[in-house]
Amino acid sequence: MKKLFLYLFYAQIVGFYTPSFGFDDNNITLENPKLSIIGTGYVGLVTGPCMAEYFDVIGVDNNKERIETLQQGKVPFYEPGLEEIIQQGALNQRLSFTTNTKEAVEKSNIAMVCVGTPSNDQTGEADLSYIYQASKDIAQELRDDHYTLVVIKSTVPVGTCEEVSNLIENARPDLKKGIHFGVASNPEFLREGCAVEDFMHPDRIVVGVESVDEKAKALIQKLYQPFTDKGYPLVITDLRSSELCKYASNFLLALRLSAVNQLSDLSSKVDANIEEVMQSVGLDKRIGPLFLKSGPGYGGSCFPKDTLALDYMGKKNGVNLSLVKETIDYNTQRKFAMAERVMGILNKDFNVQTPNLAVFGITFKAGTDDLREAPALTIIPELLKKGAHLTIYDPLYNNKTGLKKPDWAVEWGEDLYTTTKGKDGALILTEWEDFKTMNLEALAENLKTPLLIDLRNLFDLNQIKKINYYSLGRKNVFN
Ligand code: UDX
Ligand code: UDX
Repeated sequence: MKKLFLYLFYAQIVGFYTPSFGFDDNNITLENPKLSIIGTGYVGLVTGPCMAEYFDVIGVDNNKERIETLQQGKVPFYEPGLEEIIQQGALNQRLSFTTNTKEAVEKSNIAMVCVGTPSNDQTGEADLSYIYQASKDIAQELRDDHYTLVVIKSTVPVGTCEEVSNLIENARPDLKKGIHFGVASNPEFLREGCAVEDFMHPDRIVVGVESVDEKAKALIQKLYQPFTDKGYPLVITDLRSSELCKYASNFLLALRLSAVNQLSDLSSKVDANIEEVMQSVGLDKRIGPLFLKSGPGYGGSCFPKDTLALDYMGKKNGVNLSLVKETIDYNTQRKFAMAERVMGILNKDFNVQTPNLAVFGITFKAGTDDLREAPALTIIPELLKKGAHLTIYDPLYNNKTGLKKPDWAVEWGEDLYTTTKGKDGALILTEWEDFKTMNLEALAENLKTPLLIDLRNLFDLNQIKKINYYSLGRKNVFN
């Protein structure tokens, strides 16, 4: 299967085989959506291939290298299940990639914008330059022979979709909104590491449209019909509510985590067990059992960026969003506090002033190669500053996988046991499966000092044997 797929891709490149991908036939109708995805990052490159299960899709990116990687059938980042759905899309001749916006937009009637919306370093405001650039690129290619819906999937501040609509109207006075084009908001709720699962089995699909734009509504309902036919809820609301819903969701999730982490700090002090506490709390249907795990602080490309953008929106609109600010500040200080705590354990409890530590995992969570805002980006430099010597083992960031590693003054271990040989202790930063299934007795044997500091609470306290085990929100166990 894989050989056939690669043949198809190579054949396309050398030009003697140009699959039609269903785009040649120009029957672009409301009944038969054809999709162009602008931006093939973590979001666009899950959205496009998943949608290629049902529709013709062209992925566009201004990063030539990324498109070439994709045209060779390779995936530019780690996301479980992604390679398979990309290959399937190509084999079904429903998925292709290009750097040419014109080629994609003029052959589609839905242009979905999935470009980055990074934070402005000074104010935290979402930088919309990529959104505007992509919208201008799309506007140039809109046709007057069919209606095109411009869908903003990227996370954007409230009011952005209206700005995009005005931008298109100004760029193309020859086109009429509602007749030749429309704009919709369609935020994503994908978690890295399980993004394909989240896309194919959504809790809900949220879309914002202008109430007068019947074509937008019809097209978006058609686009998500494969999902609503399976019973997944589609919420159609107005543009601004849809834009705010994304920030509200991410803020409430981030707030929840900062609240759990603060309760975890208290739980340590009062000798309770945060895991037991949260198990009981999660049984309340109003709270629910998910997203209650104490950790070293949240990371990733979204929570930090979106809470900063929301904080800015509060300031800009003169609204007290103090809980957003507190969520951000507490999470930031927590990462520094974790480094303090680790050194405190080594210096005070084990009287080791310049410890030789094994570190397990640097990505912001398991299941991804994404380092964006990972707690490790704060904790590792802090530990080095405080005199620790570190050997890091990460299932994705090691010499076997070839991923570019951060330029820290550390050693990079090949596997768990060589990484821990003769060390003064081991530190878990990310909840990879490899670490959950570690043999703690073998680990204790291998270490010079049998010490495990677990910032992800991967083990039950009754599993702990022959090792000194420090975790979060629970008593320390000395065996
Ligand atoms: C991005 C936003 O960060 C997130 O807020 C939003 O919800 C979805 O889109 P992500 O996919 O992680 O999330 O962004 P990123 O990984 O940076 O990918 C963006 C892609 O767009 C990159 O491949 C970039 O090359 C491409 N791009 C950017 C374009 O093709 N054209 C542009 O003008 C700008
Ligand atoms: C998040 C949102 O979940 C998703 O809906 C949105 O579209 C993008 O942002 P993501 O950041 O990819 O997804 O991962 P997520 O699983 O939400 O974890 C975010 C951070 O919270 C990670 O650093 C993770 O380690 C941490 N986390 C998560 C905890 O510390 N405890 C938990 O119980 C859950």
